Amino acid sequence: MNKATVTEIRKQFEKALEEVRDTAALEALKHGYLGRKGIIAGLFARIREVPPESRKETGELLNSLKTDLSAAIDARSMQFAVPRKQKEITDFSMPGYAMHHGSRHPLTQAVDDMLNIFQHLGFDIAYGPEVEIDWYNFESLNFPPDHPARDMQDTFYTEGGGVLRTHTSPVQTRYMSTHKPPVRIVAPGRVFRNEAISARSYCLFHQIEGLYIDEGITFADLKGTIELFCRLYYGKDVRIKFRGSYFPFTEPSAEIDVSCFLCGGKGCPVCKQSGWLEIMGCGMVDPNVLKAVNYDSERYSGYAFGLGIERMLMMRLGINDIRILFENDVEFLKQF
Ligand code: DAH
Repeated sequence: MNKATVTEIRKQFEKALEEVRDTAALEALKHGYLGRKGIIAGLFARIREVPPESRKETGELLNSLKTDLSAAIDARSMQFAVPRKQKEITDFSMPGYAMHHGSRHPLTQAVDDMLNIFQHLGFDIAYGPEVEIDWYNFESLNFPPDHPARDMQDTFYTEGGGVLRTHTSPVQTRYMSTHKPPVRIVAPGRVFRNEAISARSYCLFHQIEGLYIDEGITFADLKGTIELFCRLYYGKDVRIKFRGSYFPFTEPSAEIDVSCFLCGGKGCPVCKQSGWLEIMGCGMVDPNVLKAVNYDSERYSGYAFGLGIERMLMMRLGINDIRILFENDVEFLKQF
């Protein structure tokens, strides 16, 4: 045995190591070279054949061969260790990860629910622009320029002289100016008011406008439709009250109260102990509005109504701060 033998063994080992593909093969290789009866042990046994003066040198050579081989085997076993570990920790009985999926915003849900009811009652859906012209937002709705009712609206004006619509009522006259009677529509959308932001008011909110114009429409039709809507939305036991009111575009006008869904009318903090909740304004369309869109006000009559979505939703969900509906707070929205 000499230096060349050691070099030859090293080469053979390296080649064999390259061909190892799994832990079992690596174990076999280790056993073959480094085991008690392995090749290295065999070489050490043959050290007696070496002349005494070279024994020390040969011994060192064999020692470093042994160290190198076991280091190479360890390094290689690390490459197999990773997949083996992964396999061990796969536990198919573990609960899966929850998938987070989005949901419709509660305001969108409320609008969809209400539109669904109105569609079943025969109403079409109409939309109007959020930036309006003064004529549709005020004048066509019987607010002349100096009419004191204009003070009811704190309005955002655009630089070009437009207005951010302060209610969805302009969709009434917009729709009528391009459609002949009969018309039966509901118009959902955003409206804007220049109000100080607080728990009770926000600079934008949502309304649904309703309009029904035909020959011979009376206040009885309005009452029947509103009553049916309230029963479908709030439940069949809800009680409804029409209270006289004023709007420039309706005559007569009313506001509608429903019995408080929380206390059933007994009185609670949500209804401020009154037992009633105000949900919308309505009335018979003023003949001046019909004239503004060139409808024959002698032949046609109709009713209109407008409801505030945020108010209805806040009462329903027991929310006491309107701002939460516009903040996109995921913790809040997750609940719906
Ligand atoms: N436009 C009114 C508002 O924003 C709500 C309203 C009242 C709409 C009576 C109507 C109506 O169509 O008939 O306060």
